[in-house]
Amino acid sequence: MLEVADIHSFYGEAHVLQGASLTVGKSEVVALLGRNGMGKTTLIRSVMGVSPPNVRSGQVTFKGEAILGLAPHLIAKRGVGYVPQGRRLFPSLTVTEHLTVLKPAAATHGWTVAKAFEFFPRLGERRYHRGNQLSGGERQMLAVARALMIDPELILMDEPSEGLAPVMVQHLEGIIAELKAAGLSILLVEQNLYSALAVADRVYILETGRVVHEASAAAIGADPETLTQFLGVH
Ligand SMILES: Nc1ncnc2c1ncn2[C@@H]1O[C@H](COP(=O)(O)OP(=O)(O)O)[C@@H](O)[C@H]1O
Ligand SMILES: [Mg+2]
Repeated sequence: MLEVADIHSFYGEAHVLQGASLTVGKSEVVALLGRNGMGKTTLIRSVMGVSPPNVRSGQVTFKGEAILGLAPHLIAKRGVGYVPQGRRLFPSLTVTEHLTVLKPAAATHGWTVAKAFEFFPRLGERRYHRGNQLSGGERQMLAVARALMIDPELILMDEPSEGLAPVMVQHLEGIIAELKAAGLSILLVEQNLYSALAVADRVYILETGRVVHEASAAAIGADPETLTQFLGVH
């Protein structure tokens, strides 16, 4: 589904991604782990075509086609949804307005506003609330729902559990599992190791812009040395 091969990304002259590679298969949940500042967001932005950073070399392939160098809206159109770190909602737009920015309210195929409200009942209850009137958990649900409105086959989620209460983190894990069951592929950046291991099939660890470890979620959960070495988990 997604192949990232040997990408090198820069902020100005700062060489942040130094040959990172990974793959995400159909209906697979892949977690991208690593300490703060290791390049996780940079990798997600590089895949999505969001600048900065500048990707100077490497390949990004989605469903067998090269997408590196395409504008983000064209990458979205091909079926890649994006939940940016920090959610990036519009404070003055309502829940419904957020969901209809990318798709007409009258659309009847794929993800519709009605289907989004079935999937996220809380958003339905708050449909007239504005971005700045929502709780952290509601904002995260809205960021995920918005990404779904383009009918993605792959979703890139950058720290969706950041700042959420444990009960909301669990709710989010359930949503990720449901999306996977519906056939979506997910590349998930997570600081919360245990949440990542609860939902992921495979895991990559990024360290100063390179993938230094790849394993199944089950294997890494049983590998305290690797967790300590790269993630500082004791
Ligand atoms: N807009 C930017 N301009 C310059 N440097 C940046 C920018 N964004 C991130 N960086 C640097 O790139 C490195 C990787 O950052 P990032 O991808 O955000 O890491 P992570 O998401 O793993 O915490 C860090 O050293 C960070 O300081
Ligand atoms: Mg980040």
